[in-house]
Order: sequence, then C-alpha cells, then structure tokens
Amino acid sequence: MISYAQLLENAAGELEKAGVEDAKMNARELLGKAIGLDCRSFEFGQRLDENADSAVQGEFESLCKRRIDGEPLQYLIGEWEFYGLTLKVGEGVLIPRQDTETLVDTVLKKAPKDRPLTVIDLCSGSGCIALALEKNLDCEQVIGVELSDEALEYMKQNIRLNGSRVKAVKGDVTLRETADILPLADVITANPPYLTSEDMKVLQREVTFEPESALFGGEDGLDFYRHILINFKDRLRQGGLIAFEIGIGQEDEVMTMLVRHGFENVRANNDACGIFRCITGFKK
Ligand SMILES: C[S@@+](CC[C@H](N)C(=O)[O-])C[C@H]1O[C@@H](n2cnc3c(N)ncnc32)[C@H](O)[C@@H]1O
Repeated sequence: MISYAQLLENAAGELEKAGVEDAKMNARELLGKAIGLDCRSFEFGQRLDENADSAVQGEFESLCKRRIDGEPLQYLIGEWEFYGLTLKVGEGVLIPRQDTETLVDTVLKKAPKDRPLTVIDLCSGSGCIALALEKNLDCEQVIGVELSDEALEYMKQNIRLNGSRVKAVKGDVTLRETADILPLADVITANPPYLTSEDMKVLQREVTFEPESALFGGEDGLDFYRHILINFKDRLRQGGLIAFEIGIGQEDEVMTMLVRHGFENVRANNDACGIFRCITGFKK
C-alpha cells in the first residue's frame, strides 16, 4: 500500500527528472484531477495520508506519463484560470495565457466609460478575453468571433459555465462578409495567431499540442493584423478603441499599420516585466 502523499512525492521526482518545470505543482494538479478534488482545497490536503485507491493511482500514473510525454498540464486537467474566471480547455483550443491579461487590463483602462459598450473580440478561442471584458466592463453586448468549431464549442461551454452574456459567433476574420454581419462596436479586441514561419520551427514541446491554426500568423506573423484592419475598421465607431495582443518585437510594425489605417493615440502597452504585449489605437 502507498499513500497519496508518497505517490505525489514519487511523481514530482519523475516529472522533475523528465524536465517538467514546476514538477511539484504539476504533480499536485494531476493528483487533484485523479482524485476529483481541487488540489488547493483543504479536503485535498486531508486525503494525502490515506492509502491510495488503486483506480485513482492508475489514473494518476497515466496522467503523469502523458505530462512527461509533453501534453500541456492545462489540457490534462481540462480547465485553466484566466482573469479570475475558470475556463474549460482541451485539445483544439488555445490555452489562455497570463500574458493576455495585459490586453484585458489595458482595455479596462482605456475603453470609453460614458455608456454601455458594444465589444467585439476577434479570434476569440476559449472566449477568455470576451468573458473577462463582459464581466468587468459596462457592456451592452459582447460578441466573440471564432472560426474553429472545436474552439467555438469551448467558448460556448465557458459562456454557460460562467453565466456570461457573451455571444459566440462563427466567422472567418479574413473575410469582409464576417464584418458585415456584426454591429458597430465601441471596442474591438483580438489576440490573433501571430507566430512567424521561423517561430513555428522552434515551438516548445507543449505548444505543439495546441492547434496550428491558433498560432501561425503567416510568414512574418502579421497577416491577421492586416486582414482585421482592412475588414473590421469600419465596424468601429468614431472614437472607438482597437486593441491587439502582439508577439514580442511586433510593436513597431503593428503600430505603423494602425497609423496608416488612420488610428490616433496609437500606443504600445507593456506587461509587468516591461515587454510590449498590446497595441491600442482610437478611430479618428
Ligand atoms: C492566438 S489564438 C487566441 C485565442 C484567445 N483569444 C486567447 O487569447 O486565448 C487565435 C484564435 O484565432 C482563431 N482563428 C484562426 N484563424 C481564424 C480566422 N480566419 N477567423 C477567425 N478566427 C480564427 C484560432 O482558432 C484561435 O482560436
């Protein structure tokens, strides 16, 4: 017989040996998943001295093996936290990144405050940005636009689970027709695919499990910013805010695009580490 505490210690050692970062935290999350308890809860801690149930042990060992083989922790546990919201994630949808919270923070600071807003979040994926804005801004309506059926299903599930009023819409942002069916917005946000051809050759192992269509932004990574500005500029009201998440080092090119499309007060906004993560501009 082996206790859960002992299983946890052994697994943390195995994960560490295999090069998994934060091995202890990974092991704890996976044991929580196998037991069916939040690993941060009091109840989880209470169970650690118990002898492990053999079915739970089998499930835990299989999860650890998949983690060692590179599957992202978030896919294995099936959910992840973003801006205080718990979101379902899994194969077929991009895992919401903490970096993206910079975009949400920036929009919350810069969005007009004098009226309930219409917000369109393009390339919405799990719906993380749309749901965070709907929860924290005075909104008349928030629409999340996404092309992938799998991602769209996750977004719909996340809307239900969080009791959100976000409306999930299937659409291709590279097509003008997608913009034509949407209302005039006060705020347009997007965290589009922005990796370059070169970036795609050197992806971290975990990232290779995420959909390529959520990552690849064309040869120079900037295709989606071009499409979105051409197709959606007219969907923004005069004075409306556009906010893009960008990849590291893309700030000058994306700011230039916004200026060429006639936006004003174009700014690069940094995260807590000083890295430019988000470009904003206002429609003249
Ligand atoms: C970088 S992910 C961002 C997802 C989410 N907004 C987030 O921040 O986690 C880009 C998303 O764009 C979607 N996408 C890719 N091509 C698209 C297109 N042509 N039209 C609409 N969405 C697209 C992908 O499926 C993916 O969900």
